[in-house]
Amino acid sequence: MEIIKSIALLDDVLNAFRNESKSIGLVPTMGALHEGHAALVKRCVAENDITVVSVFVNPTQFNNPDDLRLYPRTLEADCALLEKLDVDIVFAPDVDEMYPEPDTRVFDFGMLDKVMEGRFRPGHFNGVAQIVSKLFYAVKPDKAYFGEKDFQQLAIVREMVKQLQIPVEIIAVPIVREQSGLALSSRNMRLTEQQRETASEIFKTLARSADLLEKQSVEDTKKFVVNSINNHEALSVEYFEIVDGDTLQSITDWDDSPCIVGCIAVFCEDVRLIDNIRYK
Ligand code: PAF
Repeated sequence: MEIIKSIALLDDVLNAFRNESKSIGLVPTMGALHEGHAALVKRCVAENDITVVSVFVNPTQFNNPDDLRLYPRTLEADCALLEKLDVDIVFAPDVDEMYPEPDTRVFDFGMLDKVMEGRFRPGHFNGVAQIVSKLFYAVKPDKAYFGEKDFQQLAIVREMVKQLQIPVEIIAVPIVREQSGLALSSRNMRLTEQQRETASEIFKTLARSADLLEKQSVEDTKKFVVNSINNHEALSVEYFEIVDGDTLQSITDWDDSPCIVGCIAVFCEDVRLIDNIRYK
């Protein structure tokens, strides 16, 4: 496994593989890797000749400076895990390599980024689109892998690829959960044992809400989820929306769309967690 820090060197190494007609898969990450990332990487390794994993904590997607400062940076442990997973290249540039000058591009994602994460984290998806497009230009992957935990991010990346006409196939990989149901996230590292247990109520409640589908209106289901989670002292719901899986716009009736997803953001004390559930 090679650890590469410069785009120029990455390009040389990947060109040699491309000349041998090898397919290239990319897993973009911000490091602090866990089993959720491992699922992305395993799928990438299985489906491509060469797997590149990028590890880069992208400053332009953080709207909260404390969140950026506190984001775990564990490159050594990340590389040890990636080596075991048979990754070929870790691309771990520093900030100047990816942003030699400020990226002033402003994307227009229509209504896709006006809701949920986009509403509560202004500028976040513009930053995601900036870095993911730069990674796609640098790696030129055939396929790129993203987790369904960041459901809205997947929609944004797909839309960006369409707008910029980047020839890459976007592959969505299902959420990996702890036994308790808690969705794996790098942010879980900041939870105490007790908080971790409480945070597992988020998915337990989402799962219960799916059982209520037949009996309850969308509005009542929303109330059920928000009230049940807020009942736990350490938890506070920032938003819970039941949306069309493609447009990400809220629905009001279960018959409104063939693909319906519940998306949630919850503060577990000072740690912000997101999760989602596909209802149909
Ligand atoms: O999902 C993430 O970890 C990040 O948003 C990504 C896609 C690596 C871009 O920085």
